[in-house]
Amino acid sequence: MGPLAAAFVSFTALTSAASIPRLHAKRQDSQLRDEYDFVVVGGGTSGLTVADRLTEAFPEKNVLVIEYGDVQYAPGTFDPPTDWITPHPDAAATWSFNSLPNPDMANTTAFVKAGQVVGGSSAVNGMFFDRGSRFDYDAWAEVGGPEFEQSSDKWDWAGIFPFFKKSVTFTEPPADVAEKYNYTWDVSAYGDDSTPIYSSWSAFQWADQPVLYKAWQEIGINPATECAGGDKEGICWVPASQHPITARRSHAGLGHYEDVLPRANYDLLVQHQVVRVVYPNGPSDGPPLVEARSLADDHLFNVTVNAEVIVSAGALHTPTVLQRSGIGPASFLDSAGIPVTLDLPGVGSNFQDHSGPSITWNYSQPYTDFFPLPSDMVNNATFKADAVAGFDEEPARGPYMLAGGNSAIFVSLPHVTADHGEITAMIRAMATDGTASSYLPVDLRTVPAMVAGYEAQLLTLADLLDNPEAPSLETPWATSGPSQAAAPSFLLHPLSRGTVRLDAADPLGPPVLDYRAGSNPVDVEIHLAHVRFLRGLLETPTMKARGATETAPGEEVAGSDEALEGYVRSRSTLSFMHPCCTAAMLPEERGGVVGPDLKVHGAEGLRVVDMSIIPLLPGAHLSATAYAVGEKAADIIIQEWKAKGQ
Ligand SMILES: Cc1cc2nc3c(=O)[nH]c(=O)nc-3n(C[C@H](O)[C@H](O)[C@H](O)COP(=O)(O)OP(=O)(O)OC[C@H]3O[C@@H](n4cnc5c(N)ncnc54)[C@H](O)[C@@H]3O)c2cc1C
Ligand SMILES: *[C@@H]1O[C@H](CO)[C@@H](O)[C@H](O)[C@H]1NC(C)=O
Ligand SMILES: *[C@@H]1O[C@H](CO)[C@@H](O)[C@H](O)[C@H]1NC(C)=O
Ligand SMILES: *[C@@H]1O[C@H](CO)[C@@H](O)[C@H](O)[C@H]1NC(C)=O
Ligand SMILES: *[C@@H]1O[C@H](CO)[C@@H](O)[C@H](O)[C@H]1NC(C)=O
Ligand SMILES: *[C@@H]1O[C@H](CO)[C@@H](O)[C@H](O)[C@H]1NC(C)=O
Repeated sequence: MGPLAAAFVSFTALTSAASIPRLHAKRQDSQLRDEYDFVVVGGGTSGLTVADRLTEAFPEKNVLVIEYGDVQYAPGTFDPPTDWITPHPDAAATWSFNSLPNPDMANTTAFVKAGQVVGGSSAVNGMFFDRGSRFDYDAWAEVGGPEFEQSSDKWDWAGIFPFFKKSVTFTEPPADVAEKYNYTWDVSAYGDDSTPIYSSWSAFQWADQPVLYKAWQEIGINPATECAGGDKEGICWVPASQHPITARRSHAGLGHYEDVLPRANYDLLVQHQVVRVVYPNGPSDGPPLVEARSLADDHLFNVTVNAEVIVSAGALHTPTVLQRSGIGPASFLDSAGIPVTLDLPGVGSNFQDHSGPSITWNYSQPYTDFFPLPSDMVNNATFKADAVAGFDEEPARGPYMLAGGNSAIFVSLPHVTADHGEITAMIRAMATDGTASSYLPVDLRTVPAMVAGYEAQLLTLADLLDNPEAPSLETPWATSGPSQAAAPSFLLHPLSRGTVRLDAADPLGPPVLDYRAGSNPVDVEIHLAHVRFLRGLLETPTMKARGATETAPGEEVAGSDEALEGYVRSRSTLSFMHPCCTAAMLPEERGGVVGPDLKVHGAEGLRVVDMSIIPLLPGAHLSATAYAVGEKAADIIIQEWKAKGQ
């Protein structure tokens, strides 16, 4: 069955899905079995990938997924009835958090969300479906050091690329669409198309999308043919996580749950919070019990596990599940009054996210020669009505196919600034002269393992930032007008490290997020280089011809580096919603929480599989990586249990 035929079959499943999974999902513990072989904590992007693969590989083993949210229809980021970018009224449930004030960023706070629904963040995200560059993943292996080199589980590019391929079904655009927009791709970046998680391209662009495409080339950025195959420097076309025919959102709740039912060994309990894992006889006697709480009536119960517990609650919640279990920094657990099961200072540490300021501008030459533009969704009722009708056709057509946009520049630091050598020299100096620890959270500065791990990360990041083929800056765009336009800068490889910790006064409530953005001052230097580079866009012939005038940072920073720094500190977006790295895959002596097999150091029968385990942010939005990590983790777990002869 080719991808298109497979797509139609899946659409049939999708249209009838609303009734089926609600019957299958369990809502109270009285519906559960007496015990389970595997329990997955959190039915999100990585967690459901693992649950799907385990139930497929071991029909005789029972798997239970416990999810806080519920089964919901998850519309795309840009589906009727919305106009351009405004949130969908029926968007699936999310967690929403404000961080602590960030002292190095003018006391601003990060606003960050995560999916609270079956499918997790893949069911609420912006559907931008890219992978990092090969160097980003090679860096994961490098920071693992010699100890990880001995492992048979390799987390470098060569070790994860097969799982990126396995994790999606990519559909090539029709020839006329490809020609119209100059889409380029290379199918060797994709695999056998057997997994119903879809990656495809819109048959629609706003009329002014090519303006920036041309202007970026005028500042020296070249179009890249394919950005998902490991090489990612230049102007990239990025697929969306959506169905190629219907243009509906594709997410883990469909592709790794609803679309693979019925499966007698696959149980999903919704509307329940995992409180903690419990080791009645200590962490070397596992697997642990899983203690869960009903959201309906608050009662607690334990689930008995035979084989393993896999924590997949996402980078913001996995640390709190572990901390409530007594697995975390001993000093913090003591202060929160939680008995220590395992002193692992890396739990909730090493917190990273993409952040950065934007430049904005207006045009004195209005886009009267362009149709359609996002403004037509508001001003032209005929256009809007046709857009809504087109979304329900098969194949779908029109603006609602576009999600949030599918083009971005990815630029390395050597291509951003001639000062890159000075910047990376500063990073190497910190890593070797004993000052690195002063940039860590106060209570971790005296923990040798955390310092050693941070120094190793800084050295690896300096190499990454010196590499002319490894992007440091991302700027996505979809349209640029007609009156006010913005180009955000994403700092792809932050050096600053924050924390995620439970609130001792409300341990089951929202985690306390301390972003600590800009706490390593080199991050601010790199932000400044990015902004200066982006400002060059407005000096290109294409932008000059449109009369582009910078409105921010603009006049307020004229001629003053100090003022530009003030702009960066006070006006940056502190989260582009890619939190990660809070239970990092690093050796214990480097502050790690899990090994290359994703087992928690020192704990029997407990793994973590989600965006907490990555040691460093890749230069990519995280969902494709979350699926690939889920696929590789499942492969590791399946091989291990098969080798045990079970
Ligand atoms: C608004 C937004 C926009 C984004 N945009 C993009 C984008 O355009 N492209 C992209 O690639 N990435 C994007 N991302 C990021 C990406 O979607 C996530 O990084 C990725 O999906 C995370 O996967 P995960 O498996 O680590 O966690 P999740 O998919 O978030 O799964 C964690 C699950 O655990 C559940 N859970 C948490 N605590 C508990 C508990 N105690 N008990 C039971 N269940 C629990 C949660 O409800 C959730 O379902 C975006 C994210 C958000 C929130
Ligand atoms: C941030 O807040 C702290 C504590 O209230 C204050 O001391 C500091 O001056 C503030 N910094 C800025 C830049 O406003
Ligand atoms: C496609 O590429 C051609 C040749 O480089 C160029 O002339 C044309 O403007 C491009 N079209 C778009 C939509 O970018
Ligand atoms: C779960 O088991 C642990 C260890 O036996 C016990 O201390 C705890 O009270 C149990 N929780 C519930 C809700 O029964
Ligand atoms: C663009 O912004 C500049 C600076 O704020 C302002 O002076 C100018 O009037 C604006 N032009 C248009 C066409 O809106
Ligand atoms: C409004 O949209 C319709 C349908 O796309 C189009 O034919 C028409 O030209 C548009 N009107 C204006 C004023 O742009």
